[in-house]
Amino acid sequence: MEKLIFSLFLALPLIFTEAHVPGGGFTKLFDFGDSYVDTGNGGRQATSWKKPYGIIFPGKPTGRYSDGRVFTDYIASWMGIRSPIPYRWRKMGKKVQGHGMNFAYGGTGVFDTLVKAPNMTTQINLFQQVLEEKLHTKRDLKSSIALVSLAGNDYAAYLAGNGTIQSLPAFTTSLIRQLSLNMKHIHGMGVRKVAIMAIQPLGCLPQVSALTSYPNCSVTGNSISKFHNQILEKSVQKLNKETKDSVYIKVDIYSAFTAAMKSQEHHPGTSKFKDPLKQCCRGVNSAYSCGDVDKNGAYKYVVCKKPNSAFFWDSVHPTQAGWDAVFSALKSSLHILLG
Ligand SMILES: *[C@@H]1O[C@H](CO)[C@@H](O)[C@H](O)[C@H]1NC(C)=O
Ligand SMILES: *[C@@H]1O[C@H](CO)[C@@H](O)[C@H](O)[C@H]1NC(C)=O
Ligand SMILES: *[C@@H]1O[C@H](CO)[C@@H](O)[C@H](O)[C@H]1NC(C)=O
Repeated sequence: MEKLIFSLFLALPLIFTEAHVPGGGFTKLFDFGDSYVDTGNGGRQATSWKKPYGIIFPGKPTGRYSDGRVFTDYIASWMGIRSPIPYRWRKMGKKVQGHGMNFAYGGTGVFDTLVKAPNMTTQINLFQQVLEEKLHTKRDLKSSIALVSLAGNDYAAYLAGNGTIQSLPAFTTSLIRQLSLNMKHIHGMGVRKVAIMAIQPLGCLPQVSALTSYPNCSVTGNSISKFHNQILEKSVQKLNKETKDSVYIKVDIYSAFTAAMKSQEHHPGTSKFKDPLKQCCRGVNSAYSCGDVDKNGAYKYVVCKKPNSAFFWDSVHPTQAGWDAVFSALKSSLHILLG
């Protein structure tokens, strides 16, 4: 599986050239957060382990919430390393741990969410335990990057509870306060750089837009993201002032999603994502989701003919083609991570 990742990226030498500019030399990646970066921590009952997840790469489910590679895979390849193994498989021997470790769990958040899996605080505690087991040394950490994803499960939980739109700003503030503490904690453990993903345009997720504003993105949804990202930006600046060094980097996923979804509009002839807000895999009706089967084993979902032409795989996750486009939009801004 990882060999395949390599052969794909070797076909794109530009990425590797960039990863090896002097001043880089980062050799390990540690992931925290949710399904946008999870590469297999979910248990066998997780959606990410069901067909047709993984249908494009590697051809079967591997615990990734997409038809193929997810953001972690792109960042790891860009660094010139293999994707770090999921925490769940840490006992597989020292050799596989060489590239860091992935502590992210799909469905989770900074706070507890609707999914029963380790929240970010707990994920960081797992990292601490791994360090205590001496699986990674202080020196390893000096050449490490942490990638932290917060893609919106906290907001989903908040709005599903008794959270109101009116009190959302206060919620965002408390969310980012906790997120900042988490980032400081990760850096405090010795990780050299902490890359925090801004939140994507929530109003463009099929789950949101399909209900209210399709074929447009929901303006309210996107304004939640914009506010979140503003507060995040301030908090990252503040953290960097404290460390007197650019330890913390905001990865602008919002702009990258927007660019990836819109970029083709200007080139209708080569349109890759003709209908970017439409998900490729969906339930046969609203009672079902991508990956569902009924009790007789009958498929209760349909998959589009060309996943490569869809930006979204399911109601919240990009396809591999989607992540590819997001990564392309971000690539030039990632140098700052190596500085
Ligand atoms: C994270 O989960 C742990 C264990 O369930 C819990 O004790 C803690 O309060 C949670 N942290 C946050 C910030 O929600
Ligand atoms: C609902 O609101 C009450 C009072 O503001 C608060 O104590 C409680 O934690 C909230 N419940 C949820 C699920 O957010
Ligand atoms: C989508 O946007 C177009 C152009 O702004 C607008 O005319 C249309 O009414 C919008 N559709 C919905 C469902 O909001």
